[in-house]
Amino acid sequence: MSLDQIFATRASRMKASEIRELLKLLDQPGIISFAGGIPDPALFPADEFAEAFAAALEPSHQAQALQYSVSEGYLPLRQWIVDQMAGIGIACGVENVLITSGSQQALDYLGKLFLSPGDTALVGWPTYLGALAAFNAYEPRYDQLSINGNRPAADYADAAAISGRVKFAYLSADFANPTGETVDLRGREALLDLAEELDCAVIEDAAYQALRYDGEAVPPILSLEIARKGSIEACRTVYCGSFSKTLSPGLRVGWVVAAQPVIAQMVLLKQAADLHSSTINQMAIARVAERCFDTHILKLRAVYQRRRDAMLDALSRHMPEGVQWTRPEGGMFVWLTLPPGVDGGALLERSLDTVRVAFVPGQAFFADGSGANTLRLSFSCTDEAVIEGGIRRLGELLRSQQPERVC
Ligand SMILES: Cc1ncc(COP(=O)(O)O)c(C=O)c1O
Repeated sequence: MSLDQIFATRASRMKASEIRELLKLLDQPGIISFAGGIPDPALFPADEFAEAFAAALEPSHQAQALQYSVSEGYLPLRQWIVDQMAGIGIACGVENVLITSGSQQALDYLGKLFLSPGDTALVGWPTYLGALAAFNAYEPRYDQLSINGNRPAADYADAAAISGRVKFAYLSADFANPTGETVDLRGREALLDLAEELDCAVIEDAAYQALRYDGEAVPPILSLEIARKGSIEACRTVYCGSFSKTLSPGLRVGWVVAAQPVIAQMVLLKQAADLHSSTINQMAIARVAERCFDTHILKLRAVYQRRRDAMLDALSRHMPEGVQWTRPEGGMFVWLTLPPGVDGGALLERSLDTVRVAFVPGQAFFADGSGANTLRLSFSCTDEAVIEGGIRRLGELLRSQQPERVC
């Protein structure tokens, strides 16, 4: 007997992430990678972290830094987050904040909290692959969240009723992974209306929210709901934040802001899963955030904006007719739609063999397995000259893919 015969049914829904498998190939010499959606390590505030960890290990702090701590998270960090949230229109108290081990952990907990097998999660087509991976374990069905669409709530509810009900709508409203797109104010309000009608939660994934390069900031969905209802305690939106794209992903520190009953239940989940996030990492993040978050963000924005501009410029010069792409106002991603019939997965294989440019084929981001003719490019880790070279090479490859003209 092999043990895989007795895995729980949920295991069959867990698949190796295409992105992680792919990242293994990228160390090969000569590859230009637009694949990983990760921050540029050259931009980590490493000196500030060295100082912060040294401070946490000083005799006066080391007992706390190396000890177990409370599941809710390190209080000064939660307080810093409360102040930060106030700055973007989210009035809350420390009792509304839970520190998680990255926002990925929050997505897992929210899946666990809301989804019984057969319940429906509304997600974008495409959506963040890691959210699908987190939710899959709880055996939901997915339905397409069309924010500005004209699909009435009853339509979603009827479709969900086959095996459960709609439990939440999940989205990244700012500079989404993978598309780079932002939901406008009307779309956010429409989403809140839909959630009211469906009586479901809204999971607002704000992983990239701080990385806006141009255009007007749009208020977070949670802030719009607080404005409607007068208090966070009446809100159905759960906001997931992260320090991964701003300070460091390696420390695994994220946070959730929500009404207290949701936080209380998530604290129980955290106690059962990992007791609390690393104490010393939370202390280091709190110290670095207090000392340099705002100036550091300005630096990140300046660098990533130049790279975004370089990628959009190179795309407009090198892509053949029939290829379309998004124009993100922030974040790390540009999303390409290729002519029908061009398969992103097959293109990647050919690209690695010939022009040696890596990207992520788009299909994995679609819960329904569509999107074969799409791909995601990240501009965060390559400088402008490399971006130009990589996009030129990708353009040449795509041009060679065009169907032969019949004369
Ligand atoms: C949209 C989105 N949400 C959440 C995450 C998870 O980030 P972390 O767990 O590092 O906070 C990522 C990481 O790439 C992401 O792109």
